[in-house]
Amino acid sequence: DRSIKIAPSILAADFAAFGAECAAAEAQGADWIHVDVMDGHFVPNISFGPATCAAIRPHIKGVMDVHLMISPVDPYIDAFVQAGADILTAHLEAGPHIHRTLQAIRAGGAKAGLALNPGTPAEAAAGLLDDVDLICVMTVNPGFGGQKFIHSQIDKIRKLRTMIGDRPVHIEIDGGIDPVTAPLVVAAGADVLVAGSAVFRGGSVADPAPYGRNIAAI
Ligand code: DX5
Ligand code: ZN
Repeated sequence: DRSIKIAPSILAADFAAFGAECAAAEAQGADWIHVDVMDGHFVPNISFGPATCAAIRPHIKGVMDVHLMISPVDPYIDAFVQAGADILTAHLEAGPHIHRTLQAIRAGGAKAGLALNPGTPAEAAAGLLDDVDLICVMTVNPGFGGQKFIHSQIDKIRKLRTMIGDRPVHIEIDGGIDPVTAPLVVAAGADVLVAGSAVFRGGSVADPAPYGRNIAAI
């Protein structure tokens, strides 16, 4: 399914109201909910872990898309699958055995995602294309929301779309997506757009209308 999907990142939502934030975003047209897990080791910021994902799960009707910015990954796969992740995305840079990690994610029963930092070339994914359901192209350096989109990644998106061919692999773009950058990445071959600040900034649970306006604008 190559229709364009919007995946709001709750990293930019109200941390004390995740359940209501997720429900409001879905009510306003979010296709997936993107959940950013950070460990203060692989990235220089800490967000939350599997217990928070499990608490959010009942408030999401659709796909819970969990982006692991942690290292190591393997010891925590079961916990995130148990927490209800539909898609579990690990970074290629997070350890020496990404192929093993992707296989373990699928064996656990989730779809497997592979995230690439801005400095990692498209070619690094070449040997993994049959082992993934999604490739996440980071268009900022992971760790924080609200950063500026890195334009050099557009060429990487194009290359990946060609490499993927007719495999059923999503290309997700994460970082700096807004109404200006969204059309650029879609034209390059992306089909899932993560958006944190562009969706939740200006929104609130009490008045979710801004989410709808912002999601529609992307
Ligand atoms: C960055 C996260 C992103 C981030 C996107 O490390 O993976 O999902 O929250 O936020 P915006 O859309 O504000 O760049
Ligand atoms: Zn993310």
